[in-house]
Amino acid sequence: MILICGGAGYIGSHANKLLAARGYETVVFDNLVYGHREAVKWGKFIKGDLKDPEEIDAVFENYPIDAVMHFAAYAYVGESVVEPEKYYVNNVANTLNLLHAMREHGCNKIIFSSTCATYGEPEKVPITEDMTQKPVNPYGASKFMVERILKDYGNAYGLKYIALRYFNAAGADPEGEIGEEHNPETHLIPLVLDAASGKRTDIKVFGTDYPTRDGSCIRDYIHVTDLASAHLLALEYLDNGGESGCFNLGNEQGTSVLEVIEAVRKVTGRDFKVTRTDRRPGDPATLVGSSEKAKQVLGWRPEYGDIETIVEHAWKWHENEKY
Ligand SMILES: NC(=O)c1ccc[n+]([C@@H]2O[C@H](COP(=O)([O-])OP(=O)(O)OC[C@H]3O[C@@H](n4cnc5c(N)ncnc54)[C@H](O)[C@@H]3O)[C@@H](O)[C@H]2O)c1
Repeated sequence: MILICGGAGYIGSHANKLLAARGYETVVFDNLVYGHREAVKWGKFIKGDLKDPEEIDAVFENYPIDAVMHFAAYAYVGESVVEPEKYYVNNVANTLNLLHAMREHGCNKIIFSSTCATYGEPEKVPITEDMTQKPVNPYGASKFMVERILKDYGNAYGLKYIALRYFNAAGADPEGEIGEEHNPETHLIPLVLDAASGKRTDIKVFGTDYPTRDGSCIRDYIHVTDLASAHLLALEYLDNGGESGCFNLGNEQGTSVLEVIEAVRKVTGRDFKVTRTDRRPGDPATLVGSSEKAKQVLGWRPEYGDIETIVEHAWKWHENEKY
């Protein structure tokens, strides 16, 4: 049985769907601070908080957990700068509670949601896993710390781990059963879709004078179902005796903010106001990852790389199936 911490959230719910489809039994553990009960359509659900060692211990007492997928965290970069304690407590200290319970119960496999934010401002793109990690905000630092903890626990206690460093998760379940619903929403694609559907008056483009092909920032959007498939492969890899390690998950191409806006116009057939404004401090011009390692070692083959497909799935969800 697979324990999915944070499985009521955006990415965790997609992993849960895929695991269930492949015949795995799952148990989702989520405090619903940001998750949605309706997103847990497969397996068992336990409402609980990683801050409470007894609650997490009870899960291992009651279910034969073979491995853990750990999505539970706070992930608002801006908030992490003004409230670092909140981030270090939830993302680091509460993860220690989970790792402690795993040790107590002899569970030694974990797939961890890390992030491209652990790299900070990259020296070059595409970013490869061997590049120096220099996070520039507490959110990125909290994930970097957990990666280090996993490594140390691996050396000392034999923990087997895979840290997956996602770039920008995007899109929704192609079958429309689950999707993205963050509150507050800070991700570009749902914000542009809000503009397309009239829920926002405009979409702001922060900076149009970057040294990129059209002057706007370039980011690497990766379909949430492709992220889910990487989790499954990572699990199988550890089950087959694979070595612990870190893997980037991105589409390797990069799409500019203006290109995302164009894709939304095309997919939705709607026009909306675009406001060009100043750069935001701390936004690198280009963040694109190399996923070669995940392809070579895990055999990962992302299926939905095309930005229009990503936007199409997100739009279908946005218009029809919100929680
Ligand atoms: N969305 C992205 O683009 C992205 C990119 C890189 C990394 N990540 C990481 O991936 C993970 C999942 O991201 P998401 O977008 O699905 O976020 P999300 O907020 O939708 O999901 C996180 C889930 O964890 C739960 N949670 C948080 N703290 C908890 C606690 N103490 N106990 C129990 N449950 C708790 C929340 O209720 C939520 O359901 C996060 O760790 C995030 O840092 C996300």
